[in-house]
Amino acid sequence: MSTIVLSNLHKRFGDFTAVHDTNLTVSNGRFVVLLGPSGCGKTTTLRMIAGLELPTSGQILIDGEDVTGLRARQRDIAFVFQMFALYPHMTVRNNIAFPLKNEGIARREIAARVDAAAHMLRIESLLDRKTGGLSGGDRQRVALGRAIVRHPKAFLMDEPLGTLDADFRELMCLELRKLHNALNATTVYVTHDQREAMAMADDIVVMSGGEVLQSASPHEVYHFPATVFVGSFIGSPPMNFLAVDGGVEAGAESVSLSGVAVSVPRTATSAAKALLGVRPEHVVIDERGALRGRVIADEYLGSHQILVVETALGVMRVRVGKDEGLVAGSQVGMSFAKERTLLYDASSGKLLPGAARQMAVNGSGNGGAYV
Ligand SMILES: Nc1ncnc2c1ncn2[C@@H]1O[C@H](COP(=O)(O)OP(=O)(O)O)[C@@H](O)[C@H]1O
Ligand SMILES: [Mg+2]
Repeated sequence: MSTIVLSNLHKRFGDFTAVHDTNLTVSNGRFVVLLGPSGCGKTTTLRMIAGLELPTSGQILIDGEDVTGLRARQRDIAFVFQMFALYPHMTVRNNIAFPLKNEGIARREIAARVDAAAHMLRIESLLDRKTGGLSGGDRQRVALGRAIVRHPKAFLMDEPLGTLDADFRELMCLELRKLHNALNATTVYVTHDQREAMAMADDIVVMSGGEVLQSASPHEVYHFPATVFVGSFIGSPPMNFLAVDGGVEAGAESVSLSGVAVSVPRTATSAAKALLGVRPEHVVIDERGALRGRVIADEYLGSHQILVVETALGVMRVRVGKDEGLVAGSQVGMSFAKERTLLYDASSGKLLPGAARQMAVNGSGNGGAYV
């Protein structure tokens, strides 16, 4: 059990900055997911927490203790990699017990911990098999078992499901989350897959280009993305971003989109150039809607449809029911619910602070006011 604090953590490789001054607190018992595209600095951040990479500057605190200069094995943290290295000629039991044998723990204690971990992971029947012949999923469980038996202060996982096929990943996501609920150990989990992050995280830390863009609950990163990048990276299809005519005045209650007035939550600041962000499910097909467009593609997904609509503002994606009968070629009108639109500064890409944002902060965390 532990709290991890990153304070102005910075990592350069030669001239290249892989991680910019990062500040992050992973509270005791939380399941925190670092999410971002390949190359954004997730692994480097995790390796610094583990003690496998020294930061160029900044500090890492575990339970208030500065561990920045400590080696990996002095940190009491378990690291589960994507390319987990098991010993193929050894049994599952011995693979799981391996880190404990190195620590000189009594045999009876080792046996008890291995049995408990195997029970939790439902691999008791495999304990005497060699790992060489196991399926990917079972090997993943063994790798997790090897981390669990150490009773570490925290778990770090770097895309641990990356090599598994889609169905199995979904199952393992559920199992990992159940495991976390049972162990309640502080976990930092790295993935580039937003669905994995949304399904498992207490908090999602969205990264891009070595920087943390937002750190919040899945609910908040989805409904109140801090930047245009976050709104585009999270959600499938992504949030629509539409250019606002002229800028936005502080306190304005409506903006103009290609000549059409659209009411918006009042913003506290102004922006010379702005974008309106709206999720595909918050665009309403409305014959009286002043925003007009033509459906150029419809993707039927069984429970719902995604319409791709060409408008004067560019292409928009709209989520509608499965029985709307809207197909490619239809002319449609659209409107948005006022409290479902967000305004962004087009130059910085940042969310303009406003009324809706304020409510989100007050009601933040899962189960907040805006679902
Ligand atoms: N040892 C290294 N030497 C030089 N560049 C590195 C090294 N490790 C990582 N990088 C670079 O740092 C950036 C972030 O890498 P990484 O943390 O592995 O990203 P991610 O895990 O998000 O895909 C990448 O551009 C990568 O090429
Ligand atoms: Mg990586």
